[in-house]
Amino acid sequence: MGCYVVTGARSGMGQAITARLAEAGHRVITVDLSEADVVADLSTSEGRRAAASAVLERCEGSLDGAVLAAGIGPIPGRGMSRRILEVNYLGSVELLDAWRPALAAGGAAKVVVIASNSTTTTPIVPAKAVKALLAGNAAKADGALKKFGKRAPVFAYAASKIALSRWVRRTAVTSEWAGAGIRLNALAPGAVMTPLLESQLADPEQAPLIKQFPIPTGDFGDAGDLADWAVFMVGPSARFLCGSVVF
Ligand code: NAI
Repeated sequence: MGCYVVTGARSGMGQAITARLAEAGHRVITVDLSEADVVADLSTSEGRRAAASAVLERCEGSLDGAVLAAGIGPIPGRGMSRRILEVNYLGSVELLDAWRPALAAGGAAKVVVIASNSTTTTPIVPAKAVKALLAGNAAKADGALKKFGKRAPVFAYAASKIALSRWVRRTAVTSEWAGAGIRLNALAPGAVMTPLLESQLADPEQAPLIKQFPIPTGDFGDAGDLADWAVFMVGPSARFLCGSVVF
């Protein structure tokens, strides 16, 4: 059985993914703000560095897989736009950069990053914000979103997931990742019933917009169904997947 790391493991999809991996007999190192093996705040570079090294210590330098599920939704409020960019983008990319040698040591590791269908459904996301994030500059990305005023978090959320999907596509095929036997992919869900979506539905401004949004299958997704997909993508049968963003 393997050794996996799951971020955002306290709640929603991360929690369901952790439960399935543990049920299958794997060792799972969890990362979250609380109730996790590694307690860390991924919205700061210190928190990300601490999380990265605490996991490397626990896994003794070898990982069979990782699921990066920590994230925050487009919550309104002062400073939220920057926080969303830091957690959703840098909270995945910086950790994976630090864990890459341990994933390579695993021999055939698989990684799933949770992106979002907001990458295709949010209009007018400034290319400048995405470019700045891909360069690792959350402050500059945040600056490019200021013109949206109190709606900036909606665009920060989409920018974070567009940059994340692009990073996955660009990085997965390189010699350091695919060339080292690591399969890196992204899962991009639509609206899934988790505490993140519940908090959006409790917001009088966001709720009507979410309810109006067309869902071809008729209902919100289920965290367990998404967990099944993520666990398939980090399992032995998904050897053919590399650099995919699965919607
Ligand atoms: P959730 O809110 O249930 O879980 C997110 C987890 O991330 C929580 O355990 C939370 O504590 C953790 N987290 C948040 N900020 C953190 C920080 N600063 N440091 C460390 N951990 C932090 O949300 P859900 O829905 O399970 O989301 C999982 C992922 O799926 C997120 O990346 C989200 O953006 C993405 N997603 C969610 C959708 C949905 O409709 N629920 C749709 C598309 C993507």
